[in-house]
Amino acid sequence: MKKLGVNLDHIATIRQARKTSEPDPVSAISLIELAGANSIVMHLREDRRHTQDRDLELARKIVKTKLNLEMAPTQEMIKIALDVKPDTVTLVPERREELTTEGGLEVALNMESFKKYIRLFHDADITVSLFIDPDLDQVKASHRVGADVIEISTARYSESKTGKELETNIQQIVNAVITAEKLKLGIAAGHGLTYLNIEPIIRIDAITEYNIGHSIIARAVFTGIMSAVREMKDKINSRL
Ligand code: PXP
Repeated sequence: MKKLGVNLDHIATIRQARKTSEPDPVSAISLIELAGANSIVMHLREDRRHTQDRDLELARKIVKTKLNLEMAPTQEMIKIALDVKPDTVTLVPERREELTTEGGLEVALNMESFKKYIRLFHDADITVSLFIDPDLDQVKASHRVGADVIEISTARYSESKTGKELETNIQQIVNAVITAEKLKLGIAAGHGLTYLNIEPIIRIDAITEYNIGHSIIARAVFTGIMSAVREMKDKINSRL
């Protein structure tokens, strides 16, 4: 069975827009797990623009499936991850000015650093996933540095503007998957996947895990909005 990881950052983004306490991404965890998610994904960014340290600490206490922490491999984040001990860390590149993670890691040119990070996490019994573009050099380098899993970025695929671009991007993903399979790497995919564009990616058998955030939280706004309005309408019409 294919696995779904649900990324909570977009719930935290709504909360941080008002710097208030709701919606609390931590409160969503049990509901998301009850609905069948296989893991909870959170990205603690250096600028703390959405997920906060307290979210991660509380999540570690209540997640019953698996906790996957997305993080840049900085000293600060490595220390936090080794303290909190998520089940998996997904290493991602991070730039302060980006809206969301742009592109995958440059593993091939930084093999010694990645080996060092991965050793630290393995010593703490934490699975390591590397978020990379569908590029054969990066897949092979991820294997050489000892990653357990690669998460193939579907960003370029999801941003395809023409049928030809889409085809090229799918083929690159397929090629990366074939190489990763031969190297016995676990294979996940994520970034920009939606209810409308995910089908060709689901058809790639060897991808066994999908990490999705924005599209699910965006849909939840609409699937939940009618009862939310009804509740408020009832409230303002009820005599206290
Ligand atoms: N996987 C990784 C490594 C990411 O950085 C993100 C974005 O936080 C996702 C998956 C989820 O992307 P989206 O929110 O576009 O579904």
